[in-house]
Amino acid sequence: MRKPVIAIDGYSSTGKSSISKVIAKKLGLIHMDTGALYRGVTYFAILKCLNENGEINLQQLFSTLDEIKLEFKEVDDELILFLNGNDISKEIRGNQVSAHVSLIACQKEVRDYLMETQRSIAEKGGVILDGRDIGTVVLPNADYKFFLTASIDERTKRRFLELKSLGIETTEEEVKHNLITRDKIDSEREVAPLKKADDAILIDNSSLTKKETIDYMISLISDI
Ligand code: DC
Repeated sequence: MRKPVIAIDGYSSTGKSSISKVIAKKLGLIHMDTGALYRGVTYFAILKCLNENGEINLQQLFSTLDEIKLEFKEVDDELILFLNGNDISKEIRGNQVSAHVSLIACQKEVRDYLMETQRSIAEKGGVILDGRDIGTVVLPNADYKFFLTASIDERTKRRFLELKSLGIETTEEEVKHNLITRDKIDSEREVAPLKKADDAILIDNSSLTKKETIDYMISLISDI
């Protein structure tokens, strides 16, 4: 029997990726964190395409997109993102990448470039993709669609603790500001904005634990 395709979209720090990872493991599915792909392109742009003012030169990035090889490899049960053979899983979580990623994610050229990577993994079924436009644009025919949200204060707390555990120096103020700015850019951009698909199930997990969110979602996935 063909395994399902599951799309999980929503706001930053609603736990999309860590929740998707656990559900994938429980149900024997492959998980792709599509935000990591946008972060990988952003990291490449910071390394290779900065102008003298320290801003990303978008034209230079577009003309070098085919030099970017992003791959997920399984290391100790975790999918780790590699850019041209180098593990960049920690680098893509840093403040510099977080500060620039929404600008990169607005670009049609970048979104088109990453579309194939995302669709090809879903072709045979048995996958969970999490992101912002999975249910609306990348996989509009997904078997299950979820849209996660939570209050800004709860999301700030979660992201701050996540960054702290990665040893990344920051303040709650800075994290909150970054989340608000990204929510705005992601929701208001012209290409594939962050939006709940009409047929997605909305879950506000402000007062749910990660486990409660996962159990609820699994209870709605019936054909596994
Ligand atoms: O989920 P995240 O915070 O790692 O995502 C990083 C950025 O990438 C976020 O600002 C929105 C963007 N993104 C997107 O535009 N489309 C996706 N499918 C996934 C992420």
